[in-house]
Amino acid sequence: MAINVLEKRALKGAVGFVLLSLALVAFATWGLGINVANCIPLGTKPYEEASVVKHSGNFYEVHYVTRMWAFEPSVLRVPTGSTLDISAISKDVQHGLEIAGTNLNLMVVPGAIANGRVTFNKPGVYSMVCHEYCGKGHQGMAARIEVVDGLADFAVEGLPSSPGMKLLDAKGCLACHSTDGTAGVGPTFQNAWGQPVHLTNGTTRTLDADFFSAKVLHPNDTTVDGFAPMMPEIQVTPAELKQMEEYLKELKK
Ligand code: CUA
Repeated sequence: MAINVLEKRALKGAVGFVLLSLALVAFATWGLGINVANCIPLGTKPYEEASVVKHSGNFYEVHYVTRMWAFEPSVLRVPTGSTLDISAISKDVQHGLEIAGTNLNLMVVPGAIANGRVTFNKPGVYSMVCHEYCGKGHQGMAARIEVVDGLADFAVEGLPSSPGMKLLDAKGCLACHSTDGTAGVGPTFQNAWGQPVHLTNGTTRTLDADFFSAKVLHPNDTTVDGFAPMMPEIQVTPAELKQMEEYLKELKK
Protein backbone atom coordinates (compact mmCIF):
# COMPACT_ATOMS: atom_id res chain seq x y z
CA MET A 1 0.00 0.00 0.00
CA ALA A 2 2.64 2.48 1.07
CA ILE A 3 4.69 1.74 -2.06
CA ASN A 4 1.67 2.39 -4.26
CA VAL A 5 1.17 5.82 -2.70
CA LEU A 6 4.82 6.66 -3.18
CA GLU A 7 4.71 5.56 -6.79
CA LYS A 8 1.68 7.75 -7.44
CA ARG A 9 3.46 10.70 -5.87
CA ALA A 10 6.53 10.10 -7.95
CA LEU A 11 4.42 9.86 -11.09
CA LYS A 12 2.56 13.06 -10.27
CA GLY A 13 5.84 14.77 -9.56
CA ALA A 14 7.33 13.66 -12.88
CA VAL A 15 4.29 14.73 -14.90
CA GLY A 16 4.20 18.03 -13.03
CA PHE A 17 7.88 18.63 -13.77
CA VAL A 18 7.42 17.95 -17.48
CA LEU A 19 4.44 20.33 -17.63
CA LEU A 20 6.38 23.00 -15.74
CA SER A 21 9.30 22.67 -18.18
CA LEU A 22 6.98 23.02 -21.17
CA ALA A 23 5.32 26.03 -19.57
CA LEU A 24 8.74 27.66 -19.03
CA VAL A 25 9.76 27.04 -22.65
CA ALA A 26 6.44 28.52 -23.81
CA PHE A 27 6.95 31.52 -21.52
CA ALA A 28 10.50 32.05 -22.81
CA THR A 29 9.27 31.91 -26.40
CA TRP A 30 6.13 34.05 -26.19
CA GLY A 31 6.34 35.80 -22.85
CA LEU A 32 9.96 36.97 -22.98
CA GLY A 33 10.16 37.06 -26.76
CA ILE A 34 13.42 35.13 -26.84
CA ASN A 35 14.28 34.26 -30.39
CA VAL A 36 15.82 30.95 -31.07
CA ALA A 37 17.86 31.42 -34.24
CA ASN A 38 16.56 29.47 -37.20
CA CYS A 39 18.53 28.13 -40.09
CA ILE A 40 17.30 28.30 -43.67
CA PRO A 41 19.11 26.22 -46.30
CA LEU A 42 21.58 28.21 -48.38
CA GLY A 43 20.58 28.87 -51.95
CA THR A 44 17.26 30.39 -50.87
CA LYS A 45 16.76 33.69 -52.66
CA PRO A 46 16.72 36.57 -51.78
CA TYR A 47 18.80 35.87 -48.68
CA GLU A 48 22.13 35.85 -50.45
CA GLU A 49 22.18 39.50 -51.38
CA ALA A 50 22.16 42.37 -48.95
CA SER A 51 18.74 43.95 -49.25
CA VAL A 52 15.81 45.47 -47.40
CA VAL A 53 12.23 44.57 -48.32
CA LYS A 54 9.36 46.56 -46.85
CA HIS A 55 6.16 44.67 -46.18
CA SER A 56 2.86 46.13 -45.11
CA GLY A 57 2.81 48.22 -41.96
CA ASN A 58 6.12 48.50 -40.16
CA PHE A 59 7.34 45.07 -41.06
CA TYR A 60 10.67 44.71 -42.86
CA GLU A 61 12.73 41.86 -44.13
CA VAL A 62 16.41 42.72 -43.84
CA HIS A 63 18.99 40.49 -45.47
CA TYR A 64 22.45 41.13 -44.10
CA VAL A 65 25.64 39.98 -45.74
CA THR A 66 28.61 39.69 -43.41
CA ARG A 67 32.21 39.61 -44.53
CA MET A 68 35.63 40.49 -43.18
CA TRP A 69 35.00 43.11 -41.76
CA ALA A 70 31.69 44.66 -42.47
CA PHE A 71 27.95 44.28 -42.39
CA GLU A 72 25.98 45.12 -45.49
CA PRO A 73 23.89 47.23 -45.16
CA SER A 74 25.93 49.31 -42.71
CA VAL A 75 23.15 51.70 -41.67
CA LEU A 76 19.43 51.07 -41.59
CA ARG A 77 16.93 53.71 -40.50
CA VAL A 78 13.39 52.59 -39.63
CA PRO A 79 10.38 54.15 -37.87
CA THR A 80 9.78 53.41 -34.18
CA GLY A 81 7.63 50.33 -33.76
CA SER A 82 9.15 48.50 -36.72
CA THR A 83 9.57 44.77 -36.70
CA LEU A 84 12.60 43.46 -38.54
CA ASP A 85 12.85 39.94 -39.79
CA ILE A 86 16.61 39.67 -40.01
CA SER A 87 18.62 37.14 -41.95
CA ALA A 88 22.36 37.01 -42.34
CA ILE A 89 24.83 35.04 -44.40
CA SER A 90 28.61 35.07 -44.39
CA LYS A 91 30.78 35.50 -47.47
CA ASP A 92 33.89 34.19 -45.74
CA VAL A 93 34.38 33.06 -42.14
CA GLN A 94 32.10 32.73 -39.13
CA HIS A 95 30.78 36.03 -37.83
CA GLY A 96 28.37 37.05 -35.11
CA LEU A 97 25.47 39.46 -35.37
CA GLU A 98 24.32 41.01 -32.15
CA ILE A 99 22.10 44.05 -31.82
CA ALA A 100 22.83 45.83 -28.55
CA GLY A 101 19.77 46.51 -26.42
CA THR A 102 17.75 43.70 -28.00
CA ASN A 103 17.76 39.94 -27.56
CA LEU A 104 18.85 39.33 -31.14
CA ASN A 105 22.10 37.42 -31.23
CA LEU A 106 22.95 35.28 -34.25
CA MET A 107 25.87 33.10 -35.25
CA VAL A 108 26.54 33.62 -38.93
CA VAL A 109 28.08 30.40 -40.15
CA PRO A 110 29.32 30.14 -43.75
CA GLY A 111 26.98 28.01 -45.80
CA ALA A 112 23.86 28.72 -43.76
CA ILE A 113 21.36 31.50 -43.31
CA ALA A 114 20.88 32.75 -39.77
CA ASN A 115 17.51 34.24 -38.99
CA GLY A 116 15.81 36.09 -36.17
CA ARG A 117 13.19 38.75 -35.51
CA VAL A 118 13.28 41.90 -33.44
CA THR A 119 10.79 44.73 -32.78
CA PHE A 120 12.03 48.22 -31.95
CA ASN A 121 9.55 49.97 -29.69
CA LYS A 122 11.92 52.68 -28.48
CA PRO A 123 13.69 55.23 -30.67
CA GLY A 124 17.47 55.29 -30.55
CA VAL A 125 20.63 54.14 -32.23
CA TYR A 126 21.19 50.42 -31.87
CA SER A 127 24.66 49.23 -32.64
CA MET A 128 25.24 45.96 -34.38
CA VAL A 129 28.47 44.20 -33.57
CA CYS A 130 30.27 41.06 -34.60
CA HIS A 131 30.85 38.91 -31.52
CA GLU A 132 32.84 36.12 -33.16
CA TYR A 133 36.57 36.66 -33.55
CA CYS A 134 36.99 36.83 -37.33
CA GLY A 135 40.49 38.14 -37.89
CA LYS A 136 42.44 41.37 -37.81
CA GLY A 137 39.54 43.72 -38.41
CA HIS A 138 37.11 42.03 -36.01
CA GLN A 139 37.15 44.90 -33.51
CA GLY A 140 35.95 47.33 -36.12
CA MET A 141 33.22 45.15 -37.58
CA ALA A 142 30.05 47.04 -36.76
CA ALA A 143 26.91 48.59 -38.20
CA ARG A 144 23.88 50.30 -36.76
CA ILE A 145 20.11 50.50 -36.85
CA GLU A 146 18.61 53.92 -36.22
CA VAL A 147 15.06 53.87 -34.89
CA VAL A 148 13.39 57.22 -35.42
CA ASP A 149 10.00 58.56 -34.29
CA GLY A 150 7.65 59.61 -37.07
CA LEU A 151 9.87 58.45 -39.92
CA ALA A 152 7.76 57.97 -43.05
CA ASP A 153 9.92 55.43 -44.81
CA PHE A 154 13.06 53.43 -44.22
CA ALA A 155 16.51 54.45 -45.43
CA VAL A 156 19.54 52.32 -45.97
CA GLU A 157 23.28 52.85 -46.50
CA GLY A 158 26.13 50.59 -47.40
CA LEU A 159 24.42 48.25 -49.84
CA PRO A 160 26.79 47.00 -52.50
CA SER A 161 25.09 48.55 -55.48
CA SER A 162 27.65 48.88 -58.22
CA PRO A 163 28.14 46.04 -60.71
CA GLY A 164 31.89 46.38 -60.14
CA MET A 165 31.62 45.51 -56.48
CA LYS A 166 29.37 42.56 -57.25
CA LEU A 167 31.96 41.31 -59.72
CA LEU A 168 34.85 41.69 -57.29
CA ASP A 169 32.76 39.76 -54.83
CA ALA A 170 31.75 37.04 -57.29
CA LYS A 171 35.34 36.56 -58.45
CA GLY A 172 36.50 36.17 -54.86
CA CYS A 173 38.71 39.30 -54.83
CA LEU A 174 37.14 40.66 -51.65
CA ALA A 175 38.25 37.64 -49.67
CA CYS A 176 41.80 39.05 -49.71
CA HIS A 177 41.37 42.73 -50.60
CA SER A 178 39.33 44.84 -48.22
CA THR A 179 37.43 47.94 -49.27
CA ASP A 180 37.73 49.72 -45.92
CA GLY A 181 41.45 50.36 -45.65
CA THR A 182 42.42 47.31 -43.62
CA ALA A 183 45.23 45.23 -45.04
CA GLY A 184 44.27 41.62 -45.63
CA VAL A 185 46.07 38.83 -47.43
CA GLY A 186 46.44 41.43 -50.19
CA PRO A 187 46.49 45.24 -50.21
CA THR A 188 43.24 47.12 -49.55
CA PHE A 189 41.28 48.57 -52.47
CA GLN A 190 40.37 51.70 -50.55
CA ASN A 191 42.13 54.80 -51.89
CA ALA A 192 44.32 52.54 -54.01
CA TRP A 193 43.39 53.71 -57.50
CA GLY A 194 45.90 56.09 -59.05
CA GLN A 195 48.29 55.57 -56.16
CA PRO A 196 51.87 54.30 -56.41
CA VAL A 197 52.41 50.62 -55.74
CA HIS A 198 55.83 49.47 -54.56
CA LEU A 199 56.87 46.11 -55.91
CA THR A 200 59.26 43.53 -54.52
CA ASN A 201 61.49 43.93 -57.60
CA GLY A 202 62.28 47.45 -56.46
CA THR A 203 60.17 49.28 -59.03
CA THR A 204 57.11 51.39 -58.46
CA ARG A 205 53.97 51.31 -60.60
CA THR A 206 50.82 53.36 -60.48
CA LEU A 207 47.55 51.49 -59.99
CA ASP A 208 45.99 52.37 -63.34
CA ALA A 209 44.08 50.39 -65.97
CA ASP A 210 47.30 48.87 -67.37
CA PHE A 211 48.71 47.69 -64.09
CA PHE A 212 45.32 46.53 -62.81
CA SER A 213 44.65 44.32 -65.82
CA ALA A 214 48.22 42.95 -65.65
CA LYS A 215 47.71 42.01 -61.99
CA VAL A 216 44.36 40.37 -62.62
CA LEU A 217 45.44 38.38 -65.68
CA HIS A 218 49.02 37.53 -64.64
CA PRO A 219 48.95 38.05 -60.90
CA ASN A 220 52.35 36.76 -59.98
CA ASP A 221 54.47 38.43 -62.66
CA THR A 222 54.90 41.14 -60.05
CA THR A 223 54.40 41.16 -56.30
CA VAL A 224 53.44 44.10 -54.15
CA ASP A 225 55.98 44.81 -51.43
CA GLY A 226 54.91 43.42 -48.09
CA PHE A 227 52.59 40.76 -49.49
CA ALA A 228 53.06 37.12 -50.46
CA PRO A 229 52.92 36.14 -54.18
CA MET A 230 49.83 34.00 -53.87
CA MET A 231 47.14 35.66 -55.95
CA PRO A 232 45.30 33.27 -58.24
CA GLU A 233 44.63 34.12 -61.90
CA ILE A 234 41.17 35.59 -62.33
CA GLN A 235 39.11 34.91 -65.45
CA VAL A 236 37.52 38.16 -66.57
CA THR A 237 36.39 39.75 -69.80
CA PRO A 238 37.66 43.22 -70.77
CA ALA A 239 34.17 44.58 -70.01
CA GLU A 240 34.28 43.08 -66.53
CA LEU A 241 37.74 44.53 -65.94
CA LYS A 242 36.32 47.93 -66.82
CA GLN A 243 33.49 47.57 -64.28
CA MET A 244 35.92 46.55 -61.58
CA GLU A 245 38.06 49.60 -62.34
CA GLU A 246 35.04 51.88 -62.09
CA TYR A 247 34.31 50.53 -58.64
CA LEU A 248 37.92 50.90 -57.49
CA LYS A 249 37.82 54.54 -58.59
CA GLU A 250 34.70 55.02 -56.45
CA LEU A 251 36.56 53.73 -53.43
CA LYS A 252 38.62 56.90 -53.25
CA LYS A 253 37.58 58.99 -50.30
CU1 CUA B 1 33.17 39.38 -37.96
CU2 CUA B 1 34.25 39.38 -35.83
